[in-house]
Amino acid sequence: MSVDEKITELMNKLDEAKRGGGEKRIAKQHDSGKYTARERIEMLLDPGSFTELGTFVEHRCQDFGMEKNKFPGDGVVTGYGTINGRRVCIFAQDFTVFGGSLGEMHAKKICSIMDLALKTGVPIIGINDSGGARIQEGIDSLNGYGEIFRRNTMASGVIPQISVIMGPCAGGAVYSPGLTDFIFMVEETSQMFITGPQVIKAATGEEISYEELGGAAVHSRESGVAHFRAENEQKCFELLKTLLTYLPDNNSALPEPVDCIDFKESALEKLDTIIPTDSNKSYDVKEIIKAVVDTKTFFEIQNEFATNLVIGFARINGRVVGIVANQPKKLAGCLDIDSSDKGARFVRFCDAFNIPLLTFVDTPGFLPGTRQEHGGIIRHGAKLLYAYCEATVPKITVILRKAYGGAYLAMCSKSVGADQVFAWPTAEVAVMGPEGAANIIFRKEISQSKDPEGTRKDKIKQYREIFANPYIAAARGYVDHIIEPRDTRTVIIRALESLATKKESRLSKKHGNIPL
Ligand code: HXC
Repeated sequence: MSVDEKITELMNKLDEAKRGGGEKRIAKQHDSGKYTARERIEMLLDPGSFTELGTFVEHRCQDFGMEKNKFPGDGVVTGYGTINGRRVCIFAQDFTVFGGSLGEMHAKKICSIMDLALKTGVPIIGINDSGGARIQEGIDSLNGYGEIFRRNTMASGVIPQISVIMGPCAGGAVYSPGLTDFIFMVEETSQMFITGPQVIKAATGEEISYEELGGAAVHSRESGVAHFRAENEQKCFELLKTLLTYLPDNNSALPEPVDCIDFKESALEKLDTIIPTDSNKSYDVKEIIKAVVDTKTFFEIQNEFATNLVIGFARINGRVVGIVANQPKKLAGCLDIDSSDKGARFVRFCDAFNIPLLTFVDTPGFLPGTRQEHGGIIRHGAKLLYAYCEATVPKITVILRKAYGGAYLAMCSKSVGADQVFAWPTAEVAVMGPEGAANIIFRKEISQSKDPEGTRKDKIKQYREIFANPYIAAARGYVDHIIEPRDTRTVIIRALESLATKKESRLSKKHGNIPL
């Protein structure tokens, strides 16, 4: 064969690889509202930046006629490229080849690109669209999943790991995305579940559709498994690109600061009047966040799950921060099981990737009730405490209004390690709210009074006047300064500057034992 013929042969083979499972299956993929693996990579990465690896990898299965049924690439496209100039490693399962199912060589390709991401210190993005373990390859498929899970765990806290679900993701296969930092889902076309509708029907008699069981909406609102959901694949990639702008490449880098800062001073004026005079009335904490951070930089995560706690990234004077804030609009800003889990995981992500934490506090406490107690609020609330105590990144806390009891501590008080704590004049820092406190400490006076209701009101007022303010905490040094709301941004900018060189270390240990 001449060199020309050899080059032609290569071109033909590359063409064959690009055709994946063939025109019919590609058409079926398009008809179901999905793009192919290669189209997805093209949409996400900078044009022309993708370098594919393992294009000619094939499976080695000899059973069920598989030896005659081979596709170059074995159902997953892997390689590296850039997104807005940032280097990333990526794999995308190709549903047109054996339904994107994972066999021995398919898994090896994924492991190999994960290894490259870890060695080179860049984020790894996995696009999942798969029927799960390749049934014909049996135990080799399971072994492949195990290899991937181990790598997910080793890479955790070292490089950002992002999973995009763009088709089925079922059985144990969900645990690779489940081990990563962020999960994106697409409405109507992506599902995640451990056991499918048929198995559920056989086991429990319950009838449920794929979408109701494990669609994007349910995982964004109910389970908290998904961090973002998008209407379609294009919008999903836009969201992913935005997320990436807040993340560093790895745990020894910082997120890129930006020079171009857009900010309107006038936004700060409304902060002086945002807290209602009646402290039992609610307001939207996101208004405060948006007024304080650089214009339009607040990027909320899990915005439909456990909405009594708001988490997300933003930029302040160009620097990336991780924001955790109680939301008085939902459950009065109480901490509960789901919000504790949500907050703790986010705090740990920020700590692992050198992102300073900015906490806004307005919480009357942990949510009371048997559902919470029996559901393990002790165990879950402890996660948030643990995460804040353990974090060594700069920690700045702003107490807006209520900061009561254990929830005050769990929202990054001075005692759990906040570097700088600021309070608005509207802050109420105390062991518990005036109503509850007065009912306990003045129980006798109230019950023995001729006018129990009047006495109760008097005692609540008395308690509120003495304790429901920031001055006692400030007198003890638990609050560093009481600030005018409109000065909040300036105060945070200065705190971030002063803490930029912060160094704090922990005693050497294998690892801690966070309450899970
Ligand atoms: C091999 C598979 C496959 C699999 C699908 N295919 N899943 N091949 N192993 N797991 C193939 C089909 O044979 C078909 O091949 C092609 O992919 C497309 O599948 P369709 O069924 O035509 O597509 P669709 O109607 O869209 O349905 C998709 C599906 C369904 C919902 C994913 O295929 C399905 O239920 N598959 C089985 C899922 C499953 O039970 N997987 C194993 C789970 S156990 P042709 O040649 O016709 O195109 C597991 C354990 C993991 O994953 C544990 C890890 C720890």
